Amino acid sequence: DWTTEAFIDETVADLRVRIGDRKVLLAMSGGVDSSVCAALLHRAVGHQLTCVFVDHGCMRMDEPRQIEEVFRGQFGINLVSVNAEERFLKKLKGIRDPEKKRAIIGEEFIRVFEEEARKLGDLDYFVQGTIYPDIIESGWDGGKTVKAHHNVGGLPDRIDFKGILEPVKYLFKDEVRKVGEAMGIPHVVTRRQPFPGPGLAVRCLGELTLEKLEILRKADAIFRKSMDDRGYGTQASQYFAVLTNAQSVGVTDDARTYGYVIALRAVQTTDFMTAGVVPLPIDFLTEVAGRIAAEVKDVNRVVYDITSKPPATIEWE
Ligand code: XMP
Repeated sequence: DWTTEAFIDETVADLRVRIGDRKVLLAMSGGVDSSVCAALLHRAVGHQLTCVFVDHGCMRMDEPRQIEEVFRGQFGINLVSVNAEERFLKKLKGIRDPEKKRAIIGEEFIRVFEEEARKLGDLDYFVQGTIYPDIIESGWDGGKTVKAHHNVGGLPDRIDFKGILEPVKYLFKDEVRKVGEAMGIPHVVTRRQPFPGPGLAVRCLGELTLEKLEILRKADAIFRKSMDDRGYGTQASQYFAVLTNAQSVGVTDDARTYGYVIALRAVQTTDFMTAGVVPLPIDFLTEVAGRIAAEVKDVNRVVYDITSKPPATIEWE
């Protein structure tokens, strides 16, 4: 519509004037905000923009590839994609405390990002995908005491920039989404459910290992696809799988198994401060549980989390 188009035209024109022939760096997370910023900046200054995507190894199934396909493939954006999975897992080895996991991921993220930025040479501007609700209240929980909600993609502190660009600073989430769709960003990105900065790390309980992450990625992909295929996705604000730290006894082909327990969670919320459980039909849940246990090796039990927030939180860690 007119306002979306006008916003795009004005923002692109402003960015062009402000940036001139200088260089711009953007931390791409694959989320809606940084994606829309990337599209706006790319339209304004083309290859003067470089996006850096750091894959910490805790992304969902196919996400890193999707990001490359959309931004490098479809848009032709200069995208540096760094697979840092091993590096993150090494740092996280033996760490069980959820807040320590968050802190290590946040810190390591900035370090990897800075190293990549240094390789790129002189960069003048840094783009931040700040949106209006971030300015009026930072942190979904209001109280940072519950969880240290850092958003990966914060400002690298060891690089000197001439300035920060925040092209979607005065927009609400649904407006950012509209701008993205008007610019041709596909729905997999614009309708992406909120995903925490530390990613699957806060859904893979206890110590992170590649094996556990792979199990979780598979189970999560099955659940999310089933939700979307059956149209339940639209009833939930967030829906995902969790790899619990429990192992349980099961039976397959008359033989005893001892495997992981996956928890499924689907919540509906408007402000993320409180959330209700989506009352998914039991036959649907049973079907998904059967598929996960059959298709994901080392999983023999699936449970549905029926706890609201409060007393629980949306994520398990
Ligand atoms: P909780 O689990 O506190 O989550 O009920 C509320 C919302 O915040 C997201 N969340 C995070 N987002 N970094 C983020 O960027 C984090 O460390 C983090 N922890 C939780 C969660 O997905 C939900 O949308």
